[in-house]
Amino acid sequence: MADKIKQNSHVLFYYNRSKKWLMPITRGDVLHTHIGVLNHSDAIGKEYGSRLTTNKSKYVYLLRPTLYDYTMKLQHGTQIVYPKELGYIVARAGIGSGQKILEVGTGSGSLTSFVANVVRPRGHVYSFDVDPKFMKIAQKNIDRAGVSKYVTLHNLDIKELDVTGDAHGDSSSSSSSSSSAAAAPELPVSGADVALIDVGDPWEVLPQVRRMLRGSGCVFAVCPTMNQLEKLSASLVENEFTDIESTELILRNIEARQGKTRHSFQGIGHTTYLCFARKAYFGRDAAVHGADDAERAIDDGGDVREGDGDSPAAAAAATADTTDTVRAKPSAKTGRTAKKSVTPRSAKTGRTAPPKGATPPRKAAPAKRPKAA
Ligand SMILES: C[S@@+](CC[C@H](N)C(=O)[O-])C[C@H]1O[C@@H](n2cnc3c(N)ncnc32)[C@H](O)[C@@H]1O
Repeated sequence: MADKIKQNSHVLFYYNRSKKWLMPITRGDVLHTHIGVLNHSDAIGKEYGSRLTTNKSKYVYLLRPTLYDYTMKLQHGTQIVYPKELGYIVARAGIGSGQKILEVGTGSGSLTSFVANVVRPRGHVYSFDVDPKFMKIAQKNIDRAGVSKYVTLHNLDIKELDVTGDAHGDSSSSSSSSSSAAAAPELPVSGADVALIDVGDPWEVLPQVRRMLRGSGCVFAVCPTMNQLEKLSASLVENEFTDIESTELILRNIEARQGKTRHSFQGIGHTTYLCFARKAYFGRDAAVHGADDAERAIDDGGDVREGDGDSPAAAAAATADTTDTVRAKPSAKTGRTAKKSVTPRSAKTGRTAPPKGATPPRKAAPAKRPKAA
């Protein structure tokens, strides 16, 4: 059956990559653009993908908006998380249908809407923001993306949640998250699969986030600067998170045209860094495990080059608050110094081998030589 546009259907009026308009169709409404005027009523009954001509004889395509289109067109009250990061966050944290997601810093609701669409129909996003002004904008964007059923917004400063009592922010052994939930009835969410943090000082909310996460649950923090990454990484170790990994994603558009393909001049520059980690239970016997856990939290993948100092995890262990636990003490086994190794070089080519686990570069298909005339 043909996919026809009706009253209230959302349509992306597409002229070119930089000129497109997203809105619901309202009989009688008119869209004024620099390429002419379009009557909404003319779109009704047309199939998605068909064309409409303006009074200046320019045509636009009537496209069904994707979540990418909603993200790029959403009303900004704050900085938002862009599609290039959205997809990676979902993949790295293993976000899927049916999961319970905790979000600190709803902002404009970009990340909220995207993730809600992934966890639907049985999953849910519980999102917190201190600022009602941004929450209003977020609600609008979430409604527009059609996922409000899967989102609960709370107007709350996460830092105000009481996590005193248990220094570890959960049960003191490697027990299940249900016991930690029982120990913290005041928290609005428990047993979350994934926590997403997008606030200026993510390290300040880690104790609260930890309490609301299940064991081994993933946390992703959005950090626009490297200073934030450094501070956060140290704090993640102090709060017993492991598998800590910081990333930057770079997206490059290509103008692919016969005989003159090149990189695009347009593109998104720096958006943000991302920091990923997983909730763990560090050994309580610090002499045996404590500093070891901290060192391994930020894995250098054995790629520490000569001349590098201690690993960031070791540095974090050294600055950790010793009143919390004694896990910041040097490990009797390792002495807390980062292991040093030289990345092996091929004797033949002099090139260094890619780090363990790195995606090998794709082999380029052999170029076809033009036939001699
Ligand atoms: C950069 S915005 C988040 C943008 C959002 N990720 C998006 O994609 O649209 C940061 C938000 O965090 C909120 N915020 C800052 N500190 C907070 C706290 N302690 N608890 C809850 N929300 C907080 C701010 O009010 C702001 O709306």
